[in-house]
Amino acid sequence: MLKRQLGACVTFFPQPTTLITTQNGEGDVNLMMASWVGIVSKTPPTIAVSLNQDRQTYANIKDNGTFSINVVPAAMAQAADACGLASGKKVDKLKLTGLDVSPGTLEGVFLVDESPLNVECRYVKEVELGDYRLVMGEIMEIHACEAAFDEQGKADVKVFDPLVYLGGMREYWSLGKKEADAYRAGLVLLDKD
Ligand SMILES: Cc1cc2nc3c(=O)[nH]c(=O)nc-3n(C[C@H](O)[C@H](O)[C@H](O)COP(=O)(O)O)c2cc1C
Repeated sequence: MLKRQLGACVTFFPQPTTLITTQNGEGDVNLMMASWVGIVSKTPPTIAVSLNQDRQTYANIKDNGTFSINVVPAAMAQAADACGLASGKKVDKLKLTGLDVSPGTLEGVFLVDESPLNVECRYVKEVELGDYRLVMGEIMEIHACEAAFDEQGKADVKVFDPLVYLGGMREYWSLGKKEADAYRAGLVLLDKD
């Protein structure tokens, strides 16, 4: 495959799209679009998000020690993008987007009602990376859309319909079709020996 060098940049895809919910000192709930998010440990279950230190979201997490990470469905692309363009320092993003939140199980944590997967987190630690802080949160609870599950408890990905971000291209896409089963597809090659 012929390649073009892009230099030292942050072009990388696919990335998840999430809304981080936090609460400020006055009790106002803020929403922030974040795509630099990923699971970083299974035991204990831990998720990390890289936040610019100027974000209202970062200040709120430092104040409260709790937050939620909400998967953005494709239908929510416009509202979620707006949460990545405006800061809670100036804009009430719940009012702006019309999205709703409900209390989670942790004190001070709110979940986006329209999101099919909500992750409740407790701040654990952070790593300084230039202007960014890689914030790690222990996952305390996950809420998954009931309608996605069949009677055997198997979840249908199409119901979650997660919005995908292509970093560098600045485009949102939805998922295509399933290609293979993870932890299984490769077994065919291993069995060859
Ligand atoms: C697609 C997309 C992804 C983004 N991902 C991040 C991210 O992972 N980390 C970050 O600090 N900012 C990210 N941003 C920028 C913030 O969402 C934006 O600066 C926001 O206004 C900050 O809101 P706040 O000040 O209310 O926290 C992203 C923006 C977009 C549009």
